[in-house]
Amino acid sequence: MKRLDNIALLFFIFFFISIAAQETEYAYLLQNIDARQKTSLNGKWDIIVDPLENGFYNHRLQEYDKGYFKNAKVQSPSDLIEYNFDTSLQLNVPGDWNTQMDKLYYYEGTLWYKKDFAYTPTSNQESFLYFEAVNYEAIVYLNGEKLGKHVGGYTPFQFNVTDKLVEGNNFVVVKVDNKRKKENVPTVNQDWWNYGGITRSVHLINVPKSHIEDYSVQLEKETTTKISGWVTMANANNGDPVSIEIPELKKTVKATVTNGKASFSINAKPKLWSPNSPKLYEVIIETSTDKVVNQIGFRNISTDGSKILVNGKETFLKGISIHEEAAFKTGRVVSAEECKVLLNWAKELGCNFLRLAHYPHSEAMVKEAEKMGFLIWSEIPVYWTIQFENEDTYANAENQLTEMISRDKNRAAVVLWSMANETPESEPRLSFIGNLAKKARQLDDTRLITAALDTQGKGDDGNLIEDPLGEVVDVIGINNYCGWYYGDVDSCSSIKWASAYNKPMIMSEIGGGALYGLHGDANERWTEEYQDALFKSNIEMMKNIDFMSGLSPWILMDFRSSRRPLRRIQDDFNRKGLISEQGMKKKAFFTLQEYYLEMDKK
Ligand code: GCU
Repeated sequence: MKRLDNIALLFFIFFFISIAAQETEYAYLLQNIDARQKTSLNGKWDIIVDPLENGFYNHRLQEYDKGYFKNAKVQSPSDLIEYNFDTSLQLNVPGDWNTQMDKLYYYEGTLWYKKDFAYTPTSNQESFLYFEAVNYEAIVYLNGEKLGKHVGGYTPFQFNVTDKLVEGNNFVVVKVDNKRKKENVPTVNQDWWNYGGITRSVHLINVPKSHIEDYSVQLEKETTTKISGWVTMANANNGDPVSIEIPELKKTVKATVTNGKASFSINAKPKLWSPNSPKLYEVIIETSTDKVVNQIGFRNISTDGSKILVNGKETFLKGISIHEEAAFKTGRVVSAEECKVLLNWAKELGCNFLRLAHYPHSEAMVKEAEKMGFLIWSEIPVYWTIQFENEDTYANAENQLTEMISRDKNRAAVVLWSMANETPESEPRLSFIGNLAKKARQLDDTRLITAALDTQGKGDDGNLIEDPLGEVVDVIGINNYCGWYYGDVDSCSSIKWASAYNKPMIMSEIGGGALYGLHGDANERWTEEYQDALFKSNIEMMKNIDFMSGLSPWILMDFRSSRRPLRRIQDDFNRKGLISEQGMKKKAFFTLQEYYLEMDKK
């Protein structure tokens, strides 16, 4: 027995040392691709629906080299090829497949995408195939050759295809599989539709051979007069010069590359980004071969006891939670215009804060929100009961975290990285999320770490926040459904709260369901009156929580979820929206709006 303990102990020590030993490496993602010369591969893609993965495995379930990724064509009349992309159905990219084709509404499994595109080689250039997001697992092939695999439905990934492209016609094939599995992140049950497909844009990005890979430009912590950062270069020589210019501040600094990286700092007094004045500056990073431009804001975010400070000023986060569900057409949001519909409603509500749930939303959503002055909570889908003891699950979660931070690290609007939502208390969970928080701080120590908890215990006279995760995070998110999942509506206003931590608390979820247009008594579930009464009672409850520094009620708009089958009421929609998916505002919308406007008057 003793010997076994030692082995287990040795295993755990080795496991954590191997994680800790990783030096700060960002997922290598070209930064701010909007500013890059690129060919869009959006549009119609040919598809083959393949529930048995017949295009990947032979009848012995072995991977085989004659799979659909070969995009084989009949050469002679007797040839036997039992698939043909060119005569197949088509889907739009970007977009989920579930809302594009009725017969794919419930589909979870493998679906093959194929796209042809022309390419003209240019000397001294590198090319990347860049996917903004594919749900859930993507295996990518170019001209029949495997490029690689990506797991995780909400973050970008890329492949260097410089020496794989051919002059003239090329074809890319993607095997997309959105099957839910226990070991995945998220795991098998989630309260949002498992929209499958190439859900965000695809690009062929061309950059000079020696190019700017990645960079970080931010105000140094706790200063308002020093901007610092770094630039990483591909195929650069030591000593190569890099210039970082902020024209509007009449500031330019020179730095030199050592081992592919150049660090810099600039003494400057930028106008600070804040919800009331979301000031962005053009930042130009230039080398002898490459140039990138980005619109970047400069701000500080910190806490002081239970207060959240933006640029040192106590700021209450008047928020709303949002799923990446498009209004009217429903399905995944695929354009900046669709983002703006949701963001304009949040503005109308009087918000200065958005909880983008439960996964990283598109770069367009984050950038549009930043321009509009929204503070952002961005989250990875470590949701409910994932496999906390599975190291592959941990590696997957850490990778999604790394990609999320890599993509949005230059966004001033993003102030909170959320590690998880409603995870059950346990030792493995604490160390799992604890390690994610450590990794996040390693990658970016300028933002606040949070997680949404639903573990509040019953204290002497009310709810007590004492979850050990409260120790790990900077800001504690609390999901609490008084009047819906527990307690009757009127009881909420008198509930008292206490916390074991002297840290800010954000009420990350409160709410209840209502079908737009259904009216009745305030104690009649699903009526607008019930939802409105619930909001009124919860608002009274929250007015008495002195350590609460923000909230993001659940949720801006009704969204699709396969956990919501109640016909004529839910019809596959979670009805906790303040607005229906057809844009109709429910009574509670105006109650929350009034509460936020009231705050501004104070
Ligand atoms: C949970 C969860 C949400 C879910 C909501 C609900 O708190 O975080 O994802 O949609 O409750 O039940 O409506």
